[in-house]
Amino acid sequence: MDKKFKRTLVTTALPYANGPVHIGHLAGVYVPADIYVRYLRIKGEDVIMIGGSDEHGVPVTIRAKKEGCTPQDVVDRYHTLIKDSFERFGISFDIYSRTTSATHRQVASDFFKKLNENGKFVKKESEQYYDEEAKSFITDRNIVGECPRCHAQGAYGDQCEKCGSTLTPEELINPKNMLTGNPLVKKATTHWYLPLNEHQQWLEKWILQDHKEWRPNVYGQCKSWLDNGLQPRAVTRDLDWGIPVPVEGAEGKVLYVWFDAPIGYISNTKELLPDTWETWWKDPSTRLIHFIGKDNIVFHCIVFPAMLKAEGSFILPDNVPSNEFLNLEGDKISTSKNWAVWLHEYLDDFPGKQDVLRYVLTANAPETKDNDFTWKDFQARNNNELVAILGNFVNRTLVLSHKYFGGKVPAAGELTDYDRATIDEFVGVKEALESHLDTFHFREAQKEAMNLARIGNKYLAETEPWKLAKTDMARVATVMNLAMQITANLAIAFEPFLPFSAEKLRSMINLTKLDWNKLGSTDIIAAGTEIGKAELLFEKIEDDVIEAQIKRLENIKKQNEIDNFEPAPVAENIDFEQFMKLDIRVGKVVECAKVPKADKLLQFKIDDGMGGRTIVSGIAKHYNPEDLVGKEVCFVANLAPRKLKGIESQGMILSAEDAGGRLVVIGPNGEVKPGAQVK
Ligand code: MF3
Ligand code: ZN
Repeated sequence: MDKKFKRTLVTTALPYANGPVHIGHLAGVYVPADIYVRYLRIKGEDVIMIGGSDEHGVPVTIRAKKEGCTPQDVVDRYHTLIKDSFERFGISFDIYSRTTSATHRQVASDFFKKLNENGKFVKKESEQYYDEEAKSFITDRNIVGECPRCHAQGAYGDQCEKCGSTLTPEELINPKNMLTGNPLVKKATTHWYLPLNEHQQWLEKWILQDHKEWRPNVYGQCKSWLDNGLQPRAVTRDLDWGIPVPVEGAEGKVLYVWFDAPIGYISNTKELLPDTWETWWKDPSTRLIHFIGKDNIVFHCIVFPAMLKAEGSFILPDNVPSNEFLNLEGDKISTSKNWAVWLHEYLDDFPGKQDVLRYVLTANAPETKDNDFTWKDFQARNNNELVAILGNFVNRTLVLSHKYFGGKVPAAGELTDYDRATIDEFVGVKEALESHLDTFHFREAQKEAMNLARIGNKYLAETEPWKLAKTDMARVATVMNLAMQITANLAIAFEPFLPFSAEKLRSMINLTKLDWNKLGSTDIIAAGTEIGKAELLFEKIEDDVIEAQIKRLENIKKQNEIDNFEPAPVAENIDFEQFMKLDIRVGKVVECAKVPKADKLLQFKIDDGMGGRTIVSGIAKHYNPEDLVGKEVCFVANLAPRKLKGIESQGMILSAEDAGGRLVVIGPNGEVKPGAQVK
């Protein structure tokens, strides 16, 4: 660590307590932060990791309304769920608190008061949307209307989810209160603004000149905000859920959630360390690091630093290693669409496999661009890397040590050139890991750790101790000693990444002291050390387990299509004569079979009351042919015959197209003779 720093304060974005956490949160924030903190801890550095739930904001109130409970009920439920799942997953917070705590309410109120008293805000009256029947101002997220860009209905006052445009409520066509459906009127209201424009200058210097080392995605977003010119931002809202604005005459107003939430980092530190918290926030020898996702960049790099600067006694972040987004099977993760792998469900479905998910999320970490999580990749990384490389090497080493040396680490004899070459391959592992970890390159760092296991596997494959055992036990001892040293290296190197497996491995090889400085050396585990039974660190994940997860997601996708069904627009009018030209009849299916080499087509023999006819129809994906035999259907009888896959189709069977493109065959609603006309 940079000499000017004595301690590191790591904060992790406070997740909204209006839903459970998912793999996107983990990959973006909590897994990298946890790796980083564990790494600093083993190095013996002074570090704390602050977490907590973000419990204010409009989405909580919306969920409460939907569920018919209070906002407090909602956040109580999700705070508990989130906190428990983080704990089970091994995210090693020093504290995980919440923004509805008494400490936080006090700290956030005092913070606002101090800024207000020191003239750091501007107060402004403006016109906001108001629901006269509900007698309340309606915040952006609670306003819906028609999108001015794509004209979808149900666009929100801050964003259209159909076309992704960022909006203001003023741009919406026909704005309404989402919860009551009432139309809205403009009404004057007063709010406190943080004049970011007044902070433009120092922010430009501080970020664009002094922090060129920030990740390109972070630096780039900040630059674009700064280039556009910063505007004052309202830090209060007319809402009844949040921390009341601590000023006389501000009844019915609360602090904006993005004002109070980052202060939560401070409150939670104070809750953890009531006597020394100020050292962590005010002493310039503390290094502050914010782990966040990319939608949080402006708040952590511009707004919160401006708040801290305005307050006057706080340090600013040294780095803000923000990740991009993780997608799921090609689609954007979405809490409202239930398109996610939820942490608490993963923990139930894959007990004891925390490290597998941690490994996969780091291997695919969206550090420089959005990345995709797929269940097939999850399975492949487990089976081909954790099991086949890491698990396999450790297991072979332990089994062979038991077989030849009664479960004791043998003493090494003289090294060969090949032994030395192998050692050369990993002497630099400590420096390599440190340089990646110090610069927040977690994927590269984990690759480096995995490389140790690859080196070990290659060493065993080349030296073949099982063959040597027939002729040269002294050589076997040397080989197994070195293999055991590599195993011990793995137990240290993987601690930040795979804490559960690293601990299991340490206890298997009786490595009681975790000494990071030993990384890369060959005297970590002393000759004569008794080792335990060889237990498997990882196990193969079978296809059926993965298929069940994929099936689950497919069902969610289907359900979403059903929930979002919108009828297609009605076609242009036709006149009665045109309609009468269509001859639609009822028929009975006599035979039905798949058309060979055509995955969509079914061939029908229809009893049409006139001697029968053949019809080919593109509904094979939606029916088993046998299920249609005996059914009555409607078909267009005067459609000119045409050939499909060499079969002449004499008409068209009518189907309705349901949500998600599902086709349902149309028939009469009661018994009708084949050949009857449909009018
Ligand atoms: N709740 C926010 C989100 O999930 C993050 C808040 S971070 C904090 O996007 F700094 F405000 F705490
Ligand atoms: Zn739109």
